[in-house]
Amino acid sequence: MDATPPTGPGQPTDQGSSGPSPRPAPDDPRWFPPDTFAGQVAVVTGGGTGLGLEISRGLARQGARVVIASRSSENHAELLAEAEREGWDVRARTVDLREAPAVRDLADGLIEELGRVDILVNNAAGNFVCPAERLSTNAWRAVLGIVLDGTFYASKSFGRHMICQGKGSILNVVATYAWTGMPGVVHSASAKAGVLAMTRTLAAEWAPHGIRVNAIAPGPFQSDGAKKNLWPSDEIETRIRQQIPLQRFAQRDEVAAQCLHLLAPISEYITGECMVIDGGLTLASGRMWQPEDFARKKRGARPDPAGQADGGPSDA
Ligand code: COA
Repeated sequence: MDATPPTGPGQPTDQGSSGPSPRPAPDDPRWFPPDTFAGQVAVVTGGGTGLGLEISRGLARQGARVVIASRSSENHAELLAEAEREGWDVRARTVDLREAPAVRDLADGLIEELGRVDILVNNAAGNFVCPAERLSTNAWRAVLGIVLDGTFYASKSFGRHMICQGKGSILNVVATYAWTGMPGVVHSASAKAGVLAMTRTLAAEWAPHGIRVNAIAPGPFQSDGAKKNLWPSDEIETRIRQQIPLQRFAQRDEVAAQCLHLLAPISEYITGECMVIDGGLTLASGRMWQPEDFARKKRGARPDPAGQADGGPSDA
């Protein structure tokens, strides 16, 4: 199989912003009108790096006042500098999401400071590949603490204020392995499965308060953290890419765009949904035939699921 990702029109590369980009740039108004989130306050956990950074950037660009919250202030510098250049309203707070009182203080403090919180994006996560039989209790607790506990603490702390406002939108970043499972990440898969259940539960419970709760489940996408922790070698990366029907990893900005889509007014009737953005990977897992099997032309070649031996599929 040719593992080279297509790069023609409509096929962005995953080489970051330096490669040719046939899609509109992220600030192109064809993605979202410039004031889509004007007047709204958005909190993004882990909002200074990776996908979180891209979501925060998109919200700020479209007019939201954005607060990024994570453990390390070093991770805030890039977006704060960009916000200063672009004139966006972005502020940063340090917090360990595993500490429920600290998360509650963060929420209460922001309400006092900004008057409201309209959007919460539970993006912060920790992940690494480790066989289950070798995973230490601390490692399990670290990931469950950040992903599952942290998402609940933040949802509860900000959700209380959203209930008082009678309006709010929460977006949780999960992963397709929340329901498929995935060898090597039992900690993350278990945590994400819990967050998916939390998404659906809170969506139903808080809908009468005007709060929407949705999730996004990206397949592999390019980020420094994922590269380091999940596909540390080119060989692994290529192998993963070969399994994706669209033959490339997602770019961060296109995953972020779908997050914004679920948060934007156009999605106001959507709650409890989990949007998969994985290039078809989940659908292809466990497939019995590879695409090259369909290309066999000779009568008698096996397998022949496309019916080539009978003269090929009819378009009559
Ligand atoms: N493999 C196995 N165990 C690991 C590990 C790895 N790659 N990384 C961390 N752990 C274990 C530690 O050994 C420790 O267990 P121990 O006390 O039994 O030795 C436990 O996890 C906690 O690690 P520690 O680094 O002390 O906790 P932390 O709370 O500071 O950070 C993470 C935990 C997961 C957040 C941290 O490892 C991390 O920053 N990972 C990268 C960030 C990330 O995951 N981004 C998302 C990419 S998709």
